[in-house]
Amino acid sequence: MKVGIFSDAHKVGAEAARIVIEAMNGATIRNLGVATGSTPLNLYAELRKAHEEGTFSLADARAFALDEYVNVPEDHPERYRNVLRTELVGDDKTGLKDENLFTPDGNDSDSLVAADRHDAAIRDNGGVELQILGIGSNGHIGFNEPGTALTSRTHVDVLTRQTREDNARFFDDDISKVPTHCITQGLGTIMDARSILLIATGSAKKEAVKELVEGAVSSFWPATILQMHPNVTVLVDKAAAELLTRTDFYKDRWETL
Ligand code: GLP
Repeated sequence: MKVGIFSDAHKVGAEAARIVIEAMNGATIRNLGVATGSTPLNLYAELRKAHEEGTFSLADARAFALDEYVNVPEDHPERYRNVLRTELVGDDKTGLKDENLFTPDGNDSDSLVAADRHDAAIRDNGGVELQILGIGSNGHIGFNEPGTALTSRTHVDVLTRQTREDNARFFDDDISKVPTHCITQGLGTIMDARSILLIATGSAKKEAVKELVEGAVSSFWPATILQMHPNVTVLVDKAAAELLTRTDFYKDRWETL
């Protein structure tokens, strides 16, 4: 695991974009794993800028979402498919085609079947080249909440109270409007990606980042499974890095590897 510590969220976004552009421009299987939440928004803005400048395009690529809420109306702006459309789809964004954006169908009458279908779509299209991840304040990745099996595949789950409180800001600050269920890539599904880029900014993430980088592998901090992956880059700002103890070594490794 490589850890890069930057002064602020904008620098994290710029570095994340550099990594995504380099990985996707050199990839033979052009499948990008995409996350939602507010953390990747700087990164997506940088990717749109690079597309406008002609140095990056997802026109011939596929994007696979990490997760989706269950039973959010099709036209709701916070439905993750709509969030990702707004950020990435179209010639005025990154060139990604709508038919090449794969999201779990949270409105399928059978969510279990929809979850299996998403897992199969990733596998059948050759897997994910680079998976972008954020992290929840409780250490979740995707919507793999504490206690999720470390080998899980894409599945239906219940959101924790903490996650629903964290995400209430997207639903008029009203927790009763936040969905209770989700479909999420499993931890095993995420681990199948050839490389992983996790970004975390702000002090609300400092405990989760401490566990991710320096804690013991445990389903109670689901992101710690990434310690078992051979190609993970973690980008954090100073606030999210506050509890890390080996920062001199992370810096040496970052600068010399
Ligand atoms: C959400 C998403 C995750 C995201 C996390 C953090 O609930 N399901 O994919 O990484 O929570 O979100 P944010 O970046 O807004 O803090």
